[in-house]
Amino acid sequence: MTLVEYIARFEQSLRSLVGALPSSVSVRLFSAGRTAFAKRFAHDVPSKTYVPPAESSVTAWGLRFQLPLWNAAGMFKKGEGYDVVSRQGAGGYVAGTTTSRVRAGNTRNGVTWPAIPYPHSHAGSNWMGLPNEGHATVARRLASLQHVEGCPIGASVSSEPGLEEAQALPELLDGLAMYADAGVDYIELNESCPNVPGHHGVAVLDDALLRRLDTIAVRFLAQRKRPLPVVAKLSTDTQLAQIPELVQALVERGFDGIILGNTSTRYAELRPLIDERDVELFDHFTSTFGGGLSGAPLRNDSLLACSTAVDALKELDPSHEFHVIRCGGVATADDILASRLIGVRLNQWYVGYFEAFGKVGHNVYGDVVSRMRDKR
Ligand SMILES: Cc1cc2nc3c(=O)[nH]c(=O)nc-3n(C[C@H](O)[C@H](O)[C@H](O)COP(=O)(O)O)c2cc1C
Repeated sequence: MTLVEYIARFEQSLRSLVGALPSSVSVRLFSAGRTAFAKRFAHDVPSKTYVPPAESSVTAWGLRFQLPLWNAAGMFKKGEGYDVVSRQGAGGYVAGTTTSRVRAGNTRNGVTWPAIPYPHSHAGSNWMGLPNEGHATVARRLASLQHVEGCPIGASVSSEPGLEEAQALPELLDGLAMYADAGVDYIELNESCPNVPGHHGVAVLDDALLRRLDTIAVRFLAQRKRPLPVVAKLSTDTQLAQIPELVQALVERGFDGIILGNTSTRYAELRPLIDERDVELFDHFTSTFGGGLSGAPLRNDSLLACSTAVDALKELDPSHEFHVIRCGGVATADDILASRLIGVRLNQWYVGYFEAFGKVGHNVYGDVVSRMRDKR
């Protein structure tokens, strides 16, 4: 067992004590601990490589994903950690969202990058505020990676929050071009971080979003010199009634997929899914910072949102390949099976990943595969 695996296991056993501390102390301790852990974790390359069985792989856009599951954006904020997850057997990799300018992220009440797990609820909140080193730095880092067959490399971009559109759009296009030049295999357009101004927790097809999609369609998608899928990541809070027109807007503009979705800000609606032992912490975090909720409470919403998107897609019958990717509450082989049953072949995880890592360490993907086998 590596030191990082040991720390993760130890931290998981301590998590149930989180409720015994005052909420503000828990948030302070966990946020600092998470940041320190993330740095070590991203460099803890497993000594052995796990190669999933060939029948577990999914081919989409001509790319082979050796498993229908990989990390959600934000796990590796600096574009590090590819060697870790590719050796673990991940189906792919995506770096944290970058913006055109370096962002320090959020600090409040002396807590930098506030985040907290809700241990009894298989959930967590964060109000990090997209801290990142900018498109250029992360693109350079991704350019230096040795691609592992079966584990495509993704980048995640957002337009600079709070910047005038006239400046933000060209800078977003520059970012897309940098990642294209860096040789990434696919790109996520993050439209749904609830922790920065200008993003929508609840995706609506407003004029600003349409202008962004139009600009990317004309100035990037139509001019790609190689196959480079671009997918839009929207919130799990998106109203189901909005999804068909969002899918249509993406398909018509030549986008290659949709990820549903991101974290949630529907605190009141999802509060009943928080275990009563975590409720005080949940109320403290959401009233002090707000932030986005991740994990098990999103499981049904992400499935329903994806199912709605798949149905919309069938109606549209697009002439190009377009995939629905599920993200939100994915944690087990059962979730992957549920996705498959509604016609979704690609999944991402964040909270579920770290819960699994705390239990089985670097065997996270091997463990999922062994449970998928049981279900054949
Ligand atoms: C600490 C943290 C940081 C995140 N950073 C990003 C990010 O940079 N870009 C992004 O698109 N999503 C980000 N997310 C959202 C996740 O990618 C994912 O959409 C969300 O956690 C729901 O998935 P889950 O239920 O499997 O955790 C972040 C989530 C967490 C918990």
